[in-house]
Amino acid sequence: MYCKKILIVDDERLIRWSVKQELIKSGFEVVEADSVKSARQAIVDDDPDIMILDQMLPDGTGIDLLTEIQNTNRIMPVIMLTAVDKSHTAVKALKLGAFDYVTKPVNIEELIIIIERCCEATRLKRQVAQLMKDQEKTGGFSGLLGSSAPMKNVGEHINKISQSNCTTVLITGESGTGKELAAKAIHFLSDRRDKLFLPVNFSALTETIVESELFGHERGAFTDARQQKKGIFELADSGTILLDEIGNISPKVQVRLLRVLEQKIFQRVGGTQDISVDVRIIAATNQPLEQLVKEGKFRSDLYYRLNVATIQMPPLRDRGDDIITLAEFFIHEFNIAFHKNFKGITEETKQIFLRYDWPGNVRELRNVVERAVLMDDGEYIFSHSVELGHIHKLGHEKPELAFELGSLGQSLDDIEKQVLTKALEKTNKNQSQAAKILKISRDTLRYRMKKHDLL
Ligand SMILES: Nc1ncnc2c1ncn2[C@@H]1O[C@H](COP(=O)(O)OP(=O)(O)OP(=O)(O)O)[C@@H](O)[C@H]1O
Ligand SMILES: [Mg+2]
Repeated sequence: MYCKKILIVDDERLIRWSVKQELIKSGFEVVEADSVKSARQAIVDDDPDIMILDQMLPDGTGIDLLTEIQNTNRIMPVIMLTAVDKSHTAVKALKLGAFDYVTKPVNIEELIIIIERCCEATRLKRQVAQLMKDQEKTGGFSGLLGSSAPMKNVGEHINKISQSNCTTVLITGESGTGKELAAKAIHFLSDRRDKLFLPVNFSALTETIVESELFGHERGAFTDARQQKKGIFELADSGTILLDEIGNISPKVQVRLLRVLEQKIFQRVGGTQDISVDVRIIAATNQPLEQLVKEGKFRSDLYYRLNVATIQMPPLRDRGDDIITLAEFFIHEFNIAFHKNFKGITEETKQIFLRYDWPGNVRELRNVVERAVLMDDGEYIFSHSVELGHIHKLGHEKPELAFELGSLGQSLDDIEKQVLTKALEKTNKNQSQAAKILKISRDTLRYRMKKHDLL
């Protein structure tokens, strides 16, 4: 049990005694203190799990002690004892982070219910804190969970990049792999952390709006421009901007962006004055930009400007046991949100999770866990509660590249070409992924593509 030991701080001996008797009956261990000073000592000596704290103490107030504890890293929830007519003390205590309060004379049943709720919340808080700590030990970085080799690699890149203050970064990866989270990690690990982090998503915006969002506009620049407006570049000055789905921007905006990247200056739409800014630009994309450059849809000079440092977010299916760590993390998250009490997932579900190919990556896993935690009750998530969702579309267990040999037969070369073409189509011409599907190295793939004139 997580909450065994309760510290009760009150200067009235009788109150301490009566509460203690009842709590002992309910199976708790109780330590006592009669002043702020002795409470501090008891916290160090006895390491209690919860504190019940009176407001008026001979050498200070409960509120002061509460504030003191909140300023440390210790996870020790506090339940305040307050007089009935002192409701403002209760409100203040809650604002300062007390878990709850009870009014005197203490109703012991009410107190025990509060303690039980408090235990549960603390247990989850500690588990999540532990997860975060494990993460740190394995070279972790803010917010992004995972200790598999590809994620360690990502972590190292993020740590390095965040040390430089203005390097432009390009983050690539399939949808839902955590590109935005990685961008945030770079921002919050860098010296810019106290300034703004502003994401703009280009997939949902028209060209005019994109321009005015990014660079702002002067009054009258276009029909709806009734006021002058600052754009994201100005707003995020000294901070970081995430240009999300950069592959979708129009040629016109590409030119303007290039200018900001090269000269660090821009003009508002309809304006003539040069404005200079200091922002770090992070671009993210799930499309192969290199390919767009080849097709003439993305300016090569802009691509080179963006591609100074690159982070490739690995697909979830390549992250091994991280899948389980993430699933457990999301269980904690949704336990809290939905007031559930799941402890984990069954072995069978683990195996399904590990075999599944997660086309929607971490976002899909999060959704699957959310649905299971919401719909089910109990301690473990069983395979039947996740099968309802995407999971039973496990098409990948059948070979998708089946073909007919026909009565006339077919040359092996032809078949090879067809298989290569299919693999490239399926992966949107992503060579690393195509190589993976075919279980050959990328070099071998390129060699064979060349042979068949597919390069
Ligand atoms: N390593 C991780 N640890 C914890 N949560 C993660 C991790 N990676 C992704 N997530 C969570 O998964 C969801 C998707 O992440 P995010 O939005 O960063 O992905 P994305 O690559 O930007 O997706 P899209 O391409 O669809 O925009 C978010 O809820 C995010 O918090
Ligand atoms: Mg995103």
